[in-house]
Amino acid sequence: MPVVSTKDILDRAFEQRYGVAAINIVNDLTLEAVLAAAVEAKAPVIIQTSVKTVKSIGLDLLFAMWTELTRDISVPVALHLDHCPERDVISACLKKGWNSVLFDASSLPVAENRRQTIEVVAEARQYGASVEGEIEGIKGVEDDVGSDEESNRQSLDIALDFIRSTHVDCFAPAIGNAHGVYKTAPKLDAERVTAIVEAEPIPIALHGGTGLTPEQFADLIARGCAKVNISTALKVTYMKSNLAFLKEAEAKNKWDPPSLFKHVRQSVLDMAKGYMLQFGSGGRAW
Ligand code: 13P
Repeated sequence: MPVVSTKDILDRAFEQRYGVAAINIVNDLTLEAVLAAAVEAKAPVIIQTSVKTVKSIGLDLLFAMWTELTRDISVPVALHLDHCPERDVISACLKKGWNSVLFDASSLPVAENRRQTIEVVAEARQYGASVEGEIEGIKGVEDDVGSDEESNRQSLDIALDFIRSTHVDCFAPAIGNAHGVYKTAPKLDAERVTAIVEAEPIPIALHGGTGLTPEQFADLIARGCAKVNISTALKVTYMKSNLAFLKEAEAKNKWDPPSLFKHVRQSVLDMAKGYMLQFGSGGRAW
């Protein structure tokens, strides 16, 4: 079961109330390690790319890495473009073969956001791709996109109208969650997830996964957060495992790049697999 639609992955998870890890990768090593984690856990997984990663690696090379690494994969996987306010990058990724995009027009007035999201959904449908939408900025800057200011939450009626009029496949509400490392324990408005899902059964994207507790994950997944975004944990794991290995290499004066790659890959794999099992997606591959 190689590459499938993001909607297929999320609709199943939503119906069966487990969470799919949607993990931001930064290069070939982290892409391969997260895919290997999904294979070990027998879990569906969503691989996310930020606009920054798309631009730094390059669309063609990044997609070639994805195609090669998923060619014979045994679990359902999908490629997703995370927070993207740039319509030309959305179009380029959809055309290339990304399975879904998060059109982030949260800085625009809701009416203009809705108008453009309808266009993005129509564009995505031409390629069989899915769209995640949002009407409030998720607090915290994620790979240069976003703001540290918490944006105003919209009313339930406005959120439902946005979901129904745009036909997005997944919705990302602000519930007190934030990208990056939480400075204090977040107070989450989990009831907001329930209110949306009860009125409109749509898979909810939980942003700012790094730093939430197992209890918060379990509660939010049970309420309908089928997509659980993890980015900071991968960056921290990647950097710290490099650092630890390099400190030891320096102490021993032993410099072997393949050993470094092996060490870092294992750390990223363990981190990713841990989340997949925690979210209940282990063994859910079909
Ligand atoms: P974290 O960086 O807090 O894990 O959040 C990831 C995210 O929501 C990506 O959109």
